[in-house]
Amino acid sequence: MTYEYENLTVEVGDRIATVTIDRPDTLNALNSATERELQDVFLRLRDDAGVGGIVVTGAGEKAFVAGADIGELSGLGATQGKEFAFQGQTTFTRIAQCPKPVVAAVNGYALGGGCELAIACHLRVAGENARFGLPEVTLGLIPGHGGTQRLARIVGLGRALEMVLTGRQVTADEALAWGLVNAVFPSGELLAGARALLGRILDKAPLAVQYALEATHRSGDLGLDDGLYLEAALFGMACGTDDMREGTKAFLEKRKPEFRGR
Ligand code: COA
Repeated sequence: MTYEYENLTVEVGDRIATVTIDRPDTLNALNSATERELQDVFLRLRDDAGVGGIVVTGAGEKAFVAGADIGELSGLGATQGKEFAFQGQTTFTRIAQCPKPVVAAVNGYALGGGCELAIACHLRVAGENARFGLPEVTLGLIPGHGGTQRLARIVGLGRALEMVLTGRQVTADEALAWGLVNAVFPSGELLAGARALLGRILDKAPLAVQYALEATHRSGDLGLDDGLYLEAALFGMACGTDDMREGTKAFLEKRKPEFRGR
């Protein structure tokens, strides 16, 4: 399958798709066209049998994504602003709900919508020069692509409020200490690190990975009873797969399993 976009580049290798936001003149700021392309590419990658997982990153060495395109934002009125936020939320929710694991490889600034894009991904790794921030209040705005909701679920309310209310930037090392990223790599090793993390997921049983992702990811949204019910239902579905027979049999026979994704 080929993927051609104006504002994104997509490379597929070893069952990993790398989606690069590619608008270097604006430090990869997200305009509406780029968000529409992101929505489209995530639908297509979901359905591409040759892709098991996705890395999202930004072009160049300076920025992952420096936020929503401020030029486009500056003219919005109240009604258009709400629609703009809904569109961004829809885009990022599509990423969050992707049944394949998505890792953000944060190379440089992840500000505003860039930080919100990173936290919509399932896992995050950072280059040493990464900076996370939600500077919307400095522009007379608030985060509108999920930042007021998703960040606290990852770093806790106190740290999220500090970022949302002060707009201050968090360094890669702070992000690691806060659990906002899973690992920090020297900048030149970031993509390899992100792909290696995905690789450790992709050699597991694909349907089990999908169910585990769904159950764990929904844990922040569901009450305990509903979450446990979902876990039991998905555990049952895993028990109905050929890969579960193969995985348990391979363990008992002391050999490596051969998963087929069914
Ligand atoms: N939207 C539109 N353009 C942006 C942008 C954004 N979010 N972020 C950066 N750019 C543009 C700049 O206007 C500049 O364009 P120019 O070369 O035509 O002047 C170019 O990208 C480079 O940015 P610049 O500000 O010169 O780089 P810097 O190294 O001095 O600062 C940042 C880098 C990221 C700290 C700074 O660009 C910034 O604060 N960006 C806005 C971040 C933000 O508020 N995001 C939230 C939006 S809701």
